[in-house]
Amino acid sequence: MHLKKIGIHGLRNLTSNEVSLSPTSNFFFGENGSGKTSVLEGLYVLGRGRSFRSRTLDLVINENEESCTVFGLIDKNDVNISLGVTRTRNNDFRFKMNGQKVNNSSSLADTMPLLLINSDTFKLLDGGPQFRRQYLDWGLFHVEHSYRKSLKNFKRTLKQRNSLLRCDRINVDLLNSWNTEFVSFAEAIDKYRKIYLVGLVEKIKWVLSEITDLGNFEFKYYSGWDTDKKLLEILEKNQQKDINMRVTTHGPQRSDLRISLDAKPANEVLSRGQSKILVAAMQIAQGYLYYEKTAEKCLYLIDDLPSELDFSHRKKVGKLLWDLGAQTFVTGVLKEDLLNSWPKEDLNMKMFHVEHGKITQ
Ligand SMILES: Nc1ncnc2c1ncn2[C@@H]1O[C@H](COP(=O)(O)OP(=O)(O)OP(=O)(O)O)[C@@H](O)[C@H]1O
Ligand SMILES: [Mg+2]
Repeated sequence: MHLKKIGIHGLRNLTSNEVSLSPTSNFFFGENGSGKTSVLEGLYVLGRGRSFRSRTLDLVINENEESCTVFGLIDKNDVNISLGVTRTRNNDFRFKMNGQKVNNSSSLADTMPLLLINSDTFKLLDGGPQFRRQYLDWGLFHVEHSYRKSLKNFKRTLKQRNSLLRCDRINVDLLNSWNTEFVSFAEAIDKYRKIYLVGLVEKIKWVLSEITDLGNFEFKYYSGWDTDKKLLEILEKNQQKDINMRVTTHGPQRSDLRISLDAKPANEVLSRGQSKILVAAMQIAQGYLYYEKTAEKCLYLIDDLPSELDFSHRKKVGKLLWDLGAQTFVTGVLKEDLLNSWPKEDLNMKMFHVEHGKITQ
């Protein structure tokens, strides 16, 4: 799968642009504030239905426009698929696939799975556990379709249980009945994540061995409760605590992926640059595993590559993505920094200059 064309209209300073893309690497270079990150943001909006840097798309819409529109033409096994997203100032959000309205952004994500490497990817390491859960869930979401339903059911049950815990008068019978349902969904989520993680950790370790010799990394999944004990018993034992705290204190909503280097917490011993290498490796591994499991390749968006990684690591990252055959979108201020980072074999690469919101090949 790759994007053949993209059109971005009224998004940040990109008032109107349509470009034909390379199926391999696409580089966007230009001065600060020229619109490079906005190009990646446009692609992200198309694939995920939201931005990676603003909570609301209102800020993304060009200040002189009433709406922003992104469309893309995808080649999936020689079949063309058109995707379009429009968001107006009055909150009207429209997703279209092959001219037909689709109701939610998950169809976009299915059609155009993408992975992002930018300064925020760092949160995978030093951010809260929710970032690592989201990381795991990206893979499961795309690879295990039944996982989506289980996660949705789990989240619904958790919400019900938590709202029950916030009532002034707790209905204990009702709480007990929710406990049983909560446990069955929680255990399903836990099992999915643990199985998926085995393959993912193997891939991360392999990618890390290709780009660094920092030491021995370990990735341990913490389920969110002591799995040597029965979750139902833990819920019952902690019922009063949950009532006092008005929230469910055990379960997959508290899970985490604990990362260590030579038995020490990775986020406390790695330099900032080394951490960037680790999180880039985690994203690359995710794309490799996705390819192994689905025979499809996801898109990679890499914002400001030269400022994220030094020259030798950029080259290694470039080679791994080239070997994977994923379509990549990479930004940087200087053209030479981008060109020098990428394998010379990539003869189909395209270079775009971004200047005051205009993209020129
Ligand atoms: N809603 C908006 N309408 C118009 N312009 C906007 C809007 N939001 C942001 N901008 C402007 O869009 C421009 C492009 O920003 P962007 O972050 O894409 O630049 P960049 O090329 O990635 O810069 P850098 O090299 O500093 O990362 C900036 O000048 C910014 O001020
Ligand atoms: Mg930028």
